[in-house]
Amino acid sequence: MKHPILITGGTGFIGSHTVVAFAEAGQPVVILDNLCNSSPKVLDRLAKLNANPIEFVQADIRDAQALDALFARYSFAGVIHFAGLKAVGESVAQPLRYLENNVSGTLNLLQAMDRANVRRLVFSSSATVYGNPVRMPIPETAALSATNPYGRTKLMCEDALRELHAADPRWHIAILRYFNPVGAHESGLLGESPNGIPNNLMPYITQVALGQRACLQIFGNDYDTPDGTGVRDYLHVCDLAAGHLAALRALHEPQLLTVNLGTGRGVSVQDMVNTFARVNGVPIPQKVMPRRAGDVAVSLADPRQAKALLNWETQFDLERMCADAWRWQSMNPQGFDTPL
Ligand code: NAD
Ligand code: UFG
Repeated sequence: MKHPILITGGTGFIGSHTVVAFAEAGQPVVILDNLCNSSPKVLDRLAKLNANPIEFVQADIRDAQALDALFARYSFAGVIHFAGLKAVGESVAQPLRYLENNVSGTLNLLQAMDRANVRRLVFSSSATVYGNPVRMPIPETAALSATNPYGRTKLMCEDALRELHAADPRWHIAILRYFNPVGAHESGLLGESPNGIPNNLMPYITQVALGQRACLQIFGNDYDTPDGTGVRDYLHVCDLAAGHLAALRALHEPQLLTVNLGTGRGVSVQDMVNTFARVNGVPIPQKVMPRRAGDVAVSLADPRQAKALLNWETQFDLERMCADAWRWQSMNPQGFDTPL
């Protein structure tokens, strides 16, 4: 039996898809999550998708005793660390909560790993660490900065990992900088289920398509982009999940890898809305609003390092992202509260 991998935040959007990818690859996992932004019903969906039961521990990454007990119980081969708070606007209103949860939580996890002699980690970072990027597509060597407290927590965790690796080269660390994950598992059993009004484009579109929200607000059509709307690098969440498997495999030697996970292809808000409506045959009422504070015009990954270091590249196109997101939303109008 292979040693299991600990997946923190494993009942969340990206974590749950990664659990499925690992299980399909024959890699046993244990999920740790405090359920502050996910539903225990995710576990029922995971049970339907996997032949073997998935172990779940409800605990907080800030709880050192719980972590020590977990590391004593299992002989983990490594940790995939998704657990964190991720809402930019909320982080501006509650910076201390974000620092405490994301930074103190990560430091606490690293200390527990060190005590348990488990020094293999894949960390969820974000394209937000590029701040207001000057060059497109963005290489991993670009300057780093934070434009909000959420981004600062990612940068602080990245810095801690770089300092840890410099001090103790026994660590195997992959820092993965995600661009814009969207889509859902093709079964329609797993997907993104935000609380309240969605901040992000795709869940907003799917709720408009369902009639739960009247109209998509397009935040600005006067950017210096081909159609004036913001351009992003959207990738399918199942491609992103596969990136974690590739990263873990690449960490066979002690090292620190830093890799963008994106497609390198730009999609505007208008492209996204038009593609969603065409692929799914659902109209998306829309109106143009002023720009949203803090948004950049364009954000695109340079994906070459991921190909070179992880042998990873995306498989799914925009049509597939739109089809899978809509299947998930239309099968689950109440998200995970929808009866199976
Ligand atoms: P999510 O909120 O769906 O999942 C995060 C999970 O972590 C949730 O299940 C939550 O309950 C759990 N969690 C939070 N704090 C915890 C704590 N202290 N202890 C234990 N569990 C805790 O978010 P997601 O979209 O799946 O994102 C996963 C990671 O990827 C996050 O670190 C996020 O910052 C990062 N990320 C996400 C995006 C994105 O667009 N979704 C982009 C870049 C980076
Ligand atoms: N947008 C709209 N209407 C909406 C929502 C979004 O027009 O209702 C536009 C935005 O203005 C932007 C694009 O759609 O041009 C994408 O917006 P998202 O909120 O989906 O994604 P962002 O690129 O703004 O932010 C995401 C994460 C952040 C992370 C960042 C970089 O939400 O946490 O990617 O990784 F920091």
